Amino acid sequence: AEVEALRRNLLAWYDRCKRDLPWRALAAAEPDADRRGYAVWVSEIMLQQTQVATVIDYYTRWMQKWPTLQALAQASLEEVNELWAGLGYYSRGKRLQEAARKAGIPSSHGQNGFLALARQKLRPGVGRYTAGAIASISYGQPTGVVDGNVIRVLCRLRCIGADSSSPAVIDRLWDMANVLVDRSRPGDFNQALMELGATVCVPKSPLCGECPVKQHCQAWRRVEKELAFASQKL
Ligand code: ADE
Repeated sequence: AEVEALRRNLLAWYDRCKRDLPWRALAAAEPDADRRGYAVWVSEIMLQQTQVATVIDYYTRWMQKWPTLQALAQASLEEVNELWAGLGYYSRGKRLQEAARKAGIPSSHGQNGFLALARQKLRPGVGRYTAGAIASISYGQPTGVVDGNVIRVLCRLRCIGADSSSPAVIDRLWDMANVLVDRSRPGDFNQALMELGATVCVPKSPLCGECPVKQHCQAWRRVEKELAFASQKL
């Protein structure tokens, strides 16, 4: 029941406060799941080392030029590098283009086709995080995702003080994310966790007063308890 309230509160906040981002608009409007999968793949690769505000323009131009995996497979490396200019970490553009070629140019991958393709043929460009993002955001599969923002949010929610760069801790956080994820809106839930980490549950001086899930947050409760106890002793 507590987990359900957490999901409800987080999703309601996301519906109210989420940023309007082009890949979100596409994921909401595009009826073809494989086109959504391709779009989320491109956006997630761009977002891996670049800020949201910078990615928006590049993503928009990329999708205009190569709206599908098939279109990307026809692109030359020169064209890709030209579009990528200024975004940094150029190997990312090259990897996207090479992956599209390696995938062949099938006209249809069938149900969940892009996802299967991403997991099998687009490796290693598609790791656990990217596969989870594509599965949940584009295909509605109830799978969690863990990135830097989600690590911080989950560690605070459950007051985990262990070193979150340790692989064992990260594995437990993946388990937690898979348990927590909302079954009916997994893509929105995962993006809400990322959004919370990016805008409210920030590394330094988190804005707990604005947090939609502070009642469920063990780190917040602990601070409140300690402050109440300290003021009693004065
Ligand atoms: N960072 C990585 N993926 C993101 C997404 N889908 N929305 C916002 N920020 C992100």
